[in-house]
Amino acid sequence: MKVVVIHGPNLQLLGRREPEVYGRATLADIDSALQGLASELDVTLESFQSNSEGEILDYLATSADAIDGIVVNAAALTHTSVALRDGLVATGRPFVEVHLSNTAAREAFRTESVLSAVARGVVFGFGVDSYLLGLRGLVSALRFEAED
Ligand code: DQA
Repeated sequence: MKVVVIHGPNLQLLGRREPEVYGRATLADIDSALQGLASELDVTLESFQSNSEGEILDYLATSADAIDGIVVNAAALTHTSVALRDGLVATGRPFVEVHLSNTAAREAFRTESVLSAVARGVVFGFGVDSYLLGLRGLVSALRFEAED
């Protein structure tokens, strides 16, 4: 089983970007925690970060056939990008939307997600654990659905 983790714009700045909101973990810390969980779950995991919506869309389109599911923190694109929503749906693979912060408790524009309605699940507010819970949930869902 292969899962990709997509990190959207500005997430390469984690560790020094608004630590009171996003915590002190760097993107490398998050990817390393995800790799640890992936090996525990016996899943192959690849991470991709880009500040460019077009690069994320190209990555999704080229990797879709080779993957089983997606964990995505689309960052600010969550609130605006119909193109990303369409690109995620076009993969034909289930995805879990994750956020470090509790977006429901922040500015009004962050309470809207154009992705949630087409996500397999959504996890937010648990910092790095949002990603880990998202990966666990996705892998469980994929395994459960494979049994049917
Ligand atoms: C975020 C929340 C978004 O609103 C914001 O634009 C981000 C990070 C989060 O992980 O909490 O860049 O996705």
